[in-house]
Formats: sequence, C-alpha cells, structure tokens
Amino acid sequence: MAGLHPGSNFLGIEKQSDRVAKCNARAERLRLPNAAAIQGLGDESLKHFPSSCVSIFHLYFPDPWPKRRHSNRRVFQNEFLAEIRRILRADGVLRLMTDDAPYFDEMRELTREGWQEMPWNDGRETVMTAFEKTFRNRGQIPHQAALKAIPAGS
Ligand SMILES: C[S@@+](CC[C@H](N)C(=O)[O-])C[C@H]1O[C@@H](n2cnc3c(N)ncnc32)[C@H](O)[C@@H]1O
Repeated sequence: MAGLHPGSNFLGIEKQSDRVAKCNARAERLRLPNAAAIQGLGDESLKHFPSSCVSIFHLYFPDPWPKRRHSNRRVFQNEFLAEIRRILRADGVLRLMTDDAPYFDEMRELTREGWQEMPWNDGRETVMTAFEKTFRNRGQIPHQAALKAIPAGS
C-alpha cells in the first residue's frame, strides 16, 4: 500500500516485536519512507495519538478469540472504537475485514449507531494482506465493511 500510495503515510501497530522489526526492515529494503510499524497494543497505543490525525484506519483480520470465555480479549471493543473515532479525521474511514462471521456480527453491532456504511471500493488501489490471500486462496470470502463516523449531534 505504501508503494502504491507514496503521498500517504502508513503506520502499523503490532504487538509482536519480531513482526514489527520484519515490517520495518521490509519498508527499508523497499525504500518506502512512508511506511513504519510500532510495537504496541492497538487499543493502548491509540491513546497516544493526537485527535483527527488518521484518514483511514485499517483493521484486518484481528485475532478472533473464538472461545466464548476469551471474547473479552478481542481488540474491537467500545473503548477501542471510541479511540478510533477520536483519531479519525472528519472524513476518515474505518475499514474492517475478518473471516470470522461472529466477530464481524459483533463489529457491526458495535458500529450500528454513530457509524455510516460507505462503499468498500473507494477507487483507491489496494493490496491483499497476508491473511486475506490465505483465505481467498482457500475460496473463502472475507467479511468487509467501510464505515464513516457520524458526527455527534447530527
Ligand atoms: C491474524 S493476524 C492478521 C495480520 C494482518 N492484519 C493480515 O491481515 O495479514 C493478527 C495480528 O494482530 C496482532 N495483534 C493481535 N492483537 C493485537 C493488539 N491488541 N494490538 C496489536 N496487534 C495485535 C497479532 O500479533 C498478529 O500479528
């Protein structure tokens, strides 16, 4: 994505430091000054971001924690969503993709109010993530939603 869109900056947040290092090494090898990753927990890290600084928030294949007793470990919760809303610009978009139908239903439930669905294809060229490739190669179609926050009071 960073190679396709040199005019945009891409920042990845990943909890595993080896994956962060791999991503940054790749950005360096491909000479992409507009791509970087930081190590952190998505929900915690966002608290350090200034408001209205993000145009597109991509959340692709977050760990689904399918067992009921683990579902509180899912990153997509109200507090996380509130941080995403805060850091998105007024015209910003939250893009969600997962292969896990129950998790997708939960995401849609949490965004039922205050968010408006946008067309998934916004005209920008995209690339598939590693997980998206894996699932599509197996013939599975991921669930996707692009959402725009409705300003409070509208
Ligand atoms: C299933 S993989 C998906 C990776 C990539 N988005 C893709 O589509 O190919 C989930 C990734 O999220 C990371 N992760 C899980 N929980 C996280 C959290 N709370 N904050 C940041 N990264 C997290 C995992 O270490 C893993 O690398």
